[in-house]
Amino acid sequence: MKRGAALANGIVREVSRVPPPMAMLAELTHRCPLACPYCSNPVALTPAKDELSTGEWINVFEQAADLGVLHLHLSGGEPAARRDLVELTRAAVSLGLYTNLITSGVGLTEARISSLADVGLDHVQLSIQGVSPESADRIGGYNGGYERKIAVAGWVADAGIPLTLNAVCHKQNMGEIEAMIELAIRLKARRIEVATVQFHGWAERNKAALMPTREQVEQATQTVAAARERYQGILVIDYVPADYYSSYPKACMGGWGRVGLNVTPSGRVLPCHAAETIPSLSFENVREAALATIWYESDAFNAYRGEDWMPDLCRSCERKKVDFGGCRCQAMALAGDASATDPVCIRSPLRDRLTREADKLSTTPAATLTYRGR
Ligand code: SF4
Ligand code: FES
Repeated sequence: MKRGAALANGIVREVSRVPPPMAMLAELTHRCPLACPYCSNPVALTPAKDELSTGEWINVFEQAADLGVLHLHLSGGEPAARRDLVELTRAAVSLGLYTNLITSGVGLTEARISSLADVGLDHVQLSIQGVSPESADRIGGYNGGYERKIAVAGWVADAGIPLTLNAVCHKQNMGEIEAMIELAIRLKARRIEVATVQFHGWAERNKAALMPTREQVEQATQTVAAARERYQGILVIDYVPADYYSSYPKACMGGWGRVGLNVTPSGRVLPCHAAETIPSLSFENVREAALATIWYESDAFNAYRGEDWMPDLCRSCERKKVDFGGCRCQAMALAGDASATDPVCIRSPLRDRLTREADKLSTTPAATLTYRGR
């Protein structure tokens, strides 16, 4: 659809300054058999009874396609906990959306993967918590999870669906990165995403148990660089380094309200996964408003678009078009102000405090894992 054209609800809007979203993350459900301590979903989960129905999700996908969304990420919780996963995927594919299933693998059978392939699922992202049953099942809090993941990876490859492995790395498994990359090769993945833990949602409770040490992070960076060279042309290795040891923040979400949106299991539309931690914002629901109206017009999406909201430090900085001032939710969590410069930034007055905190947390001896409650 051309920008500024009549939208599905008949309203003509001047939207020339705001491009349409490219990607949508559909959190189909918060239900999940795993109990990962690093879970970034909110502490209070959406109960199954409040989830959007099959028809409501398909309507959201239709609106997303009309709005200009190209990539649809089907996520959770564990999206396979939805009995209608194949039906939802079929509907999304028929709308021309590129579909990516983000899954722990638990709940997927060979028959289900074959059905997903038949309806045209484009891609699978499979999480791994470790490279042995002992480490993976301990971190995921689910016995038998590792074996299931290995089986799922094989079924995905047999079905001809491209596979990415997602490895969240932290103090407890940082030494396994090289073996994770080797595992990705063995499982015929085309890509692996090695992402250092982010402390949103439940993960916040596990900061001391999960914060990697500076030495671990340096070693991880070297391991990834060497593996990238070794597997050039064979495996794509994406690496999200540790925020707390970086000099500059990442461009979270590619900038607030710029390229993507999230829809929660009950239909609230968020500019990012953790946006509900910003108390000054309220979020509209697809049950009450059109997706296009929410994207272009809602206060929450417009709150941190552009540069007007930025503190002087960011507004006068040449990197503002690179990182857009960093992560709003991290600014909220660490500075108590969502419109502050992300404290990860070396120019932030809070940066020294953050470095001291990371060093202290990472060397806290024997902090125990607090598993995700269900
Ligand atoms: Fe990014 Fe703001 Fe830091 Fe500049 S001052 S690098 S825009 S966070
Ligand atoms: Fe919300 Fe980064 S997680 S802006």
